[in-house]
Amino acid sequence: MAHDIRAWVFDAYGTLFDVYSIRAECEKLYPGKGDQLSRLWRDKQLEYTWLRSLMDRYQDFEQVTLDALRAASRALSLSASHDNEKQLMQAYLVLQPFSEVTQALSRLARKKRAILSNGSPRMLNAAVEYAGLQDLLDAVISVDSLRIFKPHPSVYALVPPHLGVDKEQIGFVSSNYWDVCGAAAFGFNAVWINRAKNPPEELGITPVATLSTLNDLADVLGD
Ligand code: LAC
Repeated sequence: MAHDIRAWVFDAYGTLFDVYSIRAECEKLYPGKGDQLSRLWRDKQLEYTWLRSLMDRYQDFEQVTLDALRAASRALSLSASHDNEKQLMQAYLVLQPFSEVTQALSRLARKKRAILSNGSPRMLNAAVEYAGLQDLLDAVISVDSLRIFKPHPSVYALVPPHLGVDKEQIGFVSSNYWDVCGAAAFGFNAVWINRAKNPPEELGITPVATLSTLNDLADVLGD
């Protein structure tokens, strides 16, 4: 099927920015536990966004990320001092972008390019600036104005009016399978970036394409 893609919209954490790049910082503070802490931290962070959305108890992503760090540290019996927390939260503002991000975004310059993320504006701006992506993006859209997290449909609905593009003309790109499902359920053409070679989830939705990096995006939807 031919697609008329007018805009590419990217998830931020895990898709453009490597959330596990924080493992090095975790490892410095907690030798031997860096990998485990970075993974549990991310798992708890996502879990808390879903739980808070279901409970209608929104806190912004920075607070959720701090709460998740505290819970993950406790679960691993690590002593989370105020200084350590501060250091790790600071490191979360400067996550490493995946190596192909700049080139991949540059290649898509004929279309609008945007981020749609759970991140708070402060966190997203810091990450975008650190990665030097400001000039490669037309918009950075945060869930914060809605006070609910992905994959609630209202979050994806922020994009079409913001970009002035119909949902059928949007290619949505995420490494998070559940986010791909939310985007596809809303009506975007959702592409799964499966760097880790994970098996697909069973949520009744299939992405329009699956890629191992962002590099070939321009080719997949007949762009
Ligand atoms: C985001 C989370 C889902 O950036 O990674 O929205």
